[in-house]
This record gives sequence, structure tokens and C-alpha cells, in this order.
Amino acid sequence: MHGAADLRVNLFPAYANQIYWLAIGSAAAAIVGAPAALIAWARTPYATGQGEPPEQPVKFDHRHHVRDEGIGCEYCHGGATRSARAGVPATSVCVGCHAQIWTTSPELGRVRESYFTNAPIRWRRVNALPDFVFFDHSAHVNKGVGCVTCHGRVDLMGQVYQARPLTMRWCLECHREPEGHLRPLDEVTNMEWTPDRPQDVLGRELRASLGVRSIVDCSGCHR
Ligand code: HEC
Ligand code: HEC
Ligand code: HEC
Ligand code: HEC
Ligand code: HEC
Repeated sequence: MHGAADLRVNLFPAYANQIYWLAIGSAAAAIVGAPAALIAWARTPYATGQGEPPEQPVKFDHRHHVRDEGIGCEYCHGGATRSARAGVPATSVCVGCHAQIWTTSPELGRVRESYFTNAPIRWRRVNALPDFVFFDHSAHVNKGVGCVTCHGRVDLMGQVYQARPLTMRWCLECHREPEGHLRPLDEVTNMEWTPDRPQDVLGRELRASLGVRSIVDCSGCHR
């Protein structure tokens, strides 16, 4: 999927200073390969994985659960406000409702089977950064960056796909001027929020009141 990055990661000894090796790795790749072609390829949605939903073991539909049933993101992804990972819910969370809500969907048979055999459902990753990048959900969500900003309208997705490129350039575009992307903390999971005054005015206020820094040092994301 992320062939070039995977290869580089495998080449590095575990003890090496990662940035140093990353820089060397990129330079080596640029000399070996045709640089322009590599760069063009690396930035296409195909290479970043953007837009393609992977096949999931159970046909879980965010539209039905979030939109029709009004279940909040935090009910299933509570980790997002507390920790680095948003996490995917354990089967017991599904069974909390689906023990009562009997539907004829064969997909629910697989959910019960997972519950009774204690074998977790193996959800496939949709959004994934390379191992050498540090990311923390709570650091974003608790400073006013909404889920929709990085994941798109998940409430309208039958199958979740990667909605943003997740490239370093994309991260830095926001980190340089975070005020363009901040919202009140009680709106972070709202998929339809719009600012009630111009975003630059609101964003500057929120940036000051929440003490939002602009993190552009390499060590901010590569530790
Ligand atoms: C009832 C539980 C439930 C609710 C509510 C829910 N999700 Fe999910 N979410 C899941 C499950 C299960 C998966 C894994 C399967 C999949 O990708 O569809 C998932 C996957 C995701 C993914 C992709 C994960 C990855 O691998 O990158 C994102 C992003 C996501 N959810 C965001 C949201 C957002 C935003 C909300 C609120 C608008 C939300 N979810 C509400 C259960 C839920
Ligand atoms: C808070 C209650 C609740 C939770 C938690 C919940 N569901 Fe559901 N689920 C529902 C309801 C209600 C429906 C029926 C929706 C409809 O038909 O519009 C449903 C429908 C479904 C269906 C049938 C297909 C569809 O989307 O209509 C599947 C499959 C499903 N859920 C899987 C899951 C899985 C997997 C989990 C755990 C990650 C889960 N559900 C968690 C309430 C819940
Ligand atoms: C600043 C951008 C950003 C915001 C805001 C954000 N996410 Fe994510 N999310 C990501 C990235 C990047 C990944 C992949 C992380 C990795 O591979 O380490 C991810 C991964 C996920 C996953 C997969 C499981 C995991 O924890 O890695 C889920 C589920 C998810 N996000 C849900 C949410 C929900 C729900 C919210 C809002 C409460 C949210 N995200 C807010 C960028 C974001
Ligand atoms: C839409 C805006 C936005 C995007 C996109 C975004 N960030 Fe951030 N990021 C922020 C804000 C705001 C903060 C909070 C700064 C602070 O703590 O004051 C932050 C903080 C961080 C931190 C600091 C965590 C800590 O230890 O406090 C890391 C690391 C980080 N982001 C990594 C990333 C990576 C990697 C990406 C891309 C995959 C990314 N961010 C994309 C806005 C964004
Ligand atoms: C806001 C987070 C963030 C900051 C700050 C950041 N990076 Fe990155 N970096 C990423 C992400 C995400 C990736 C993986 C995605 C990609 O390759 O674009 C990455 C990938 C890389 C790569 C792999 C080569 C490539 O282009 O795929 C190198 C080398 C690198 N970063 C070096 C640096 C250096 C040097 C700095 C400081 C000038 C820096 N990074 C600052 C997020 C960040």
C-alpha cells in the first residue's frame, strides 16, 4: 500500500536515529529512482490510499448508526478524547444493542459469533500513518480540531474510506495556521457544524483561549 515508506522502514536498524535515516533514505530513493515520477506517484490518491474503502469483515454502516440512530462518535471511539488512539469498539459494545435489536441481517450472526467465541472482529485499518510518525487524537480533539476535518463526513459513508491525504504536507498546512480549523470543544464530533462568525475571528479567539501552539519542528511528529 505505502510501498516506498514500508521499504525504508524495514531498512532501518531499530536503534538508529529515525530522522537521520529518513533523510538518508529519501535521498537514496531520489537518486535511485526517477525523482519526478516518484514524487508524482507518491502524491496521487492511489498511493496515499485516499478514497478507497477496504472490504470489512462485517458490513457495519455509519449512516444507519450515526445518522438514523443518532449514536455519538464517542460511544464507539471514546479513546479519541482520552488517548492517542480513537480505537474501534469491542464486540461487547455492539452486542449491548444487538442482543435486543434482532434483525435478519446475516452480518449480525457474525457479530454474535465473535461475541460467543471471544474472537474479536478483525476490522481492517482505513487511516494509517507510517510507524515513524507520531500522532495523538486527544492532542487534537481537546484543542478544537473536529473529527470531520480529518475524516470527512463519516456519517454519510456506507463504508468508511480515507477522506484526506494524511501526507506530511497536509499535516503542516494546518499546523502552520491552526486557527483556520478550530471549533468550540463541544462541537468536535458534530459533522454539520458551521461557524457562527467568520472563521478567522472565531479561530483566533479559540487559539488564544485554548492556548493552541503551532508545531512545525521535525521532533513534533518524528520522535
Ligand atoms: C456504533 C459504533 C460506532 C459509532 C457510533 C461510530 N463508529 Fe466509527 N467505526 C465503528 C466501527 C465498528 C469501525 C470499523 C469498521 C469500519 O471501518 O467501518 C469504525 C471505523 C471508523 C473510522 C475508520 C477507522 C480506521 O481504520 O481508520 C473512522 C474515521 C470513524 N469510524 C469515525 C467515526 C466518527 C467520526 C463517528 C461519529 C460521527 C463514528 N465513527 C461513529 C463504529 C462506530
Ligand atoms: C446503540 C445501539 C447500537 C449499537 C451500539 C450498535 N448497533 Fe448496529 N444497529 C442498531 C440499530 C438500531 C440498527 C438497525 C438500523 C436500521 O435498520 O436502520 C442496527 C443495524 C446494524 C446492522 C444491519 C445493517 C445495517 O446497518 O442496517 C449491522 C450489520 C450492525 N448494526 C452492526 C453493528 C456492529 C458491528 C456494532 C458494533 C461495532 C453495532 N452494530 C453497534 C443499533 C446499534
Ligand atoms: C488532526 C486529524 C484527526 C482528527 C481531528 C481526528 N482523527 Fe482520527 N485519525 C487520524 C489519523 C492521522 C489516523 C491514523 C492514525 C495512525 O495511523 O496512527 C486516525 C485514525 C482514526 C481511527 C482508527 C483507529 C485509531 O485510533 O487509529 C478512528 C476510529 C478515528 N481516527 C476516529 C476519529 C474520531 C471519532 C475523531 C473525532 C473525535 C477523530 N478520529 C479525529 C486523524 C484525525
Ligand atoms: C486541521 C488541523 C490539523 C491537522 C490536519 C493536523 N494537526 Fe496535529 N495538531 C493540530 C493542533 C491544533 C494541535 C494542538 C497544538 C497544541 O498542543 O497546542 C496539534 C498537535 C499535534 C501534535 C502534538 C501532540 C502533543 O504531544 O501535544 C502532534 C504530534 C501532531 N499534531 C501530529 C500531527 C500529524 C502527524 C498530522 C498529520 C497526519 C497532524 N497532526 C494533522 C492541528 C492539526
Ligand atoms: C505535523 C507533523 C510533521 C512534522 C512537523 C514533520 N513531519 Fe515529516 N512526516 C509527517 C508525516 C505524516 C509523514 C508521512 C506521510 C508522508 O510521507 O507525507 C512524514 C514523512 C517524512 C519523511 C519520509 C519521506 C517522505 O516524504 O515520505 C521524512 C524524511 C520526513 N517526514 C522528515 C521531516 C523533517 C526533516 C521534518 C522537519 C523539517 C518533518 N518531517 C516534520 C509529519 C510531519
